[in-house]
Amino acid sequence: MTRKDSHAKTVCITGTGSYLPEKVLTNFDLEKMVETTDEWIRTRTGIRERHIAQNGEGTCLMAAQSALRALRSADMSPEEVEIIIVGTFTPDMLLPNTACLVQDRIGAENALCFDLSAACSGFVYGLEVARGLILGSGYRNALVIGVEKLSAVTDWRDRNTCVLFGDGGGAAVLEATDKSGRRGLLASAMGADGSLADLLNIPGGGSRMGLTRHAIDDRQIYIKMAGNEVFKHAVRCMCNAGQKALERSGLTMDDVNWVIPHQANARIVEAVASRLGNSPHKFCVNLERVGNISAASVPVALDEFVRRGKIKRGDTVLLVAFGGGFTWGAMVLEWGY
Ligand SMILES: CC(C)(COP(=O)(O)OP(=O)(O)OC[C@H]1O[C@@H](n2cnc3c(N)ncnc32)[C@H](O)[C@@H]1OP(=O)(O)O)[C@@H](O)C(=O)NCCC(=O)NCCS
Repeated sequence: MTRKDSHAKTVCITGTGSYLPEKVLTNFDLEKMVETTDEWIRTRTGIRERHIAQNGEGTCLMAAQSALRALRSADMSPEEVEIIIVGTFTPDMLLPNTACLVQDRIGAENALCFDLSAACSGFVYGLEVARGLILGSGYRNALVIGVEKLSAVTDWRDRNTCVLFGDGGGAAVLEATDKSGRRGLLASAMGADGSLADLLNIPGGGSRMGLTRHAIDDRQIYIKMAGNEVFKHAVRCMCNAGQKALERSGLTMDDVNWVIPHQANARIVEAVASRLGNSPHKFCVNLERVGNISAASVPVALDEFVRRGKIKRGDTVLLVAFGGGFTWGAMVLEWGY
């Protein structure tokens, strides 16, 4: 089938995979590094531990491992992949993009490859872009990856931020189908507000403030965050995006079986759950074990809950993410292919 002949009406997720580095950093380990306590971290964030990449474990490696697992579960070979999108703001290198490195590593020589920079919303943005390419341009499939090595851009002397972040990667295979009865990705709501960029950013190391001695000594090459402000925007934007995506799909929270939220803080997740129809039991949460892994957050939780048999064929799932930019995105889908 040539691209022009493709009349796919539906795009489904046909496989998921994830990868977490072996090394675990607990709150008790952090007590030895900065002035904090396990109790403060648990009660203010819900996090107990996070995975941290070790020497040689880069963003590409984590992305490739999760991609191979997703391809296996989709029963697809790397050569069949037509698009690779990597959502990340911690690429192995500024040039080339991480998607090209993943292509080479897994042997997906027939894929076009690009990175997508939307911070924690990178994976959900990636699903939206891939769906558009499949439905609009006739590609048959895409590999969408959310991956982050946040330990590389975390200021390990700043207790305000270093207790929050971890490393990991998650991936999903998207495929076109015209089989009747398959509903797949149903509706989405994406957005951004660049006027709030100052609340969450890495000021140095880019082209505005290069990797100068000053940038390094002044610790400008690490994540800076106004936590309290970000918290409020995260709750508001995730609720609005979730509601809008549901409206567009013609569904309500009553129809939703599972919500996979971006996992930044258990209190954010609780606030979103209570505003989206008091539904905490529908929320898939793993942040206690992984912390905030940015673009990897949604796909890792999705993969874990699918593999544990919680998310089943026919279930309606709402994905909702929020991150630096600010960016946000929600997607409603029916699970199964
Ligand atoms: C970062 C965050 C956990 C802080 O929680 P908070 O309840 O807002 O806490 P505050 O910022 O008000 O700080 C409260 C106090 O705890 C202190 N504190 C901060 N980090 C601490 C730590 N690790 N251990 C102990 N005390 C800490 C602060 O210094 C402050 O002390 P002060 O009152 O004497 O100044 C929370 O704001 C958050 O999760 N924000 C959103 C994070 C997020 O979503 N990020 C990414 C978006 S994708």
